[in-house]
Amino acid sequence: MKETAKNLELMSQFGIHEGISEIIAATRNVSEKKEDTCLFNAAPIGIIWKNDKMFLRLFPGTQTYENLMREEYFTANVTTDSVLYVNSTFYDLDDSEFSTLDFSGTIVPALKGTDRYVVFRCVNRLLAQGSMIIDIEPVGFKIQTENVGFLPNRGFYSVIEICVHLTRYEKTKDPAYIELIKHHWSLVQRCGRKRDKEALSILKRRLSGFDTDC
Ligand SMILES: Cc1cc2nc3c(=O)[nH]c(=O)nc-3n(C[C@H](O)[C@H](O)[C@H](O)COP(=O)(O)O)c2cc1C
Repeated sequence: MKETAKNLELMSQFGIHEGISEIIAATRNVSEKKEDTCLFNAAPIGIIWKNDKMFLRLFPGTQTYENLMREEYFTANVTTDSVLYVNSTFYDLDDSEFSTLDFSGTIVPALKGTDRYVVFRCVNRLLAQGSMIIDIEPVGFKIQTENVGFLPNRGFYSVIEICVHLTRYEKTKDPAYIELIKHHWSLVQRCGRKRDKEALSILKRRLSGFDTDC
């Protein structure tokens, strides 16, 4: 119990706070859904921290959902690298981009190119209203770089927003998402760092597969 309280205190040092924190979840592939032979998967996922409870809400149809239906552990990777957000949302990362740790006898993947990560244990799963709610608890912490984060940058946050709107557009083809993407696109161009603009080029390639005027 004391250990859990200490872990909760460490969370804010790792950049994960109350509300919803958008991390990149690294999981071990356990299903046969993937045709290739990737051992690991990464995807942006929100950690919801509400009323002293932490949980994920996963929607079916993703590799992360398949993996966390069965796996006990995953890592929440903390980064401000917008290219990593884009690539992990829309493409499979190569296994060489992951490191592994042995956690209580289980192999758990983490992303090499991130600043910090927290190891989480899935403690309870509930299937509800078309999604799976997984209660989670932090059980391990690792600092990988000296980076201390940065002040809010609208360019970086707009890349995250574009990823969210584009995943929804790909599912629904609702043109309203394209208008939102255009708004955030101009913010990345105005406020973003070089890396955020590199992320835009990858997104542009992804968008070129659809009939939009983006
Ligand atoms: C910032 C961000 C947050 C996301 N949060 C969630 C989430 O909490 N739950 C979820 O099911 N999908 C979430 N997604 C969507 C998944 O990341 C997306 O469907 C992804 O393609 C899944 O990849 P996978 O099939 O490799 O797991 C989020 C996407 C972004 C960009």
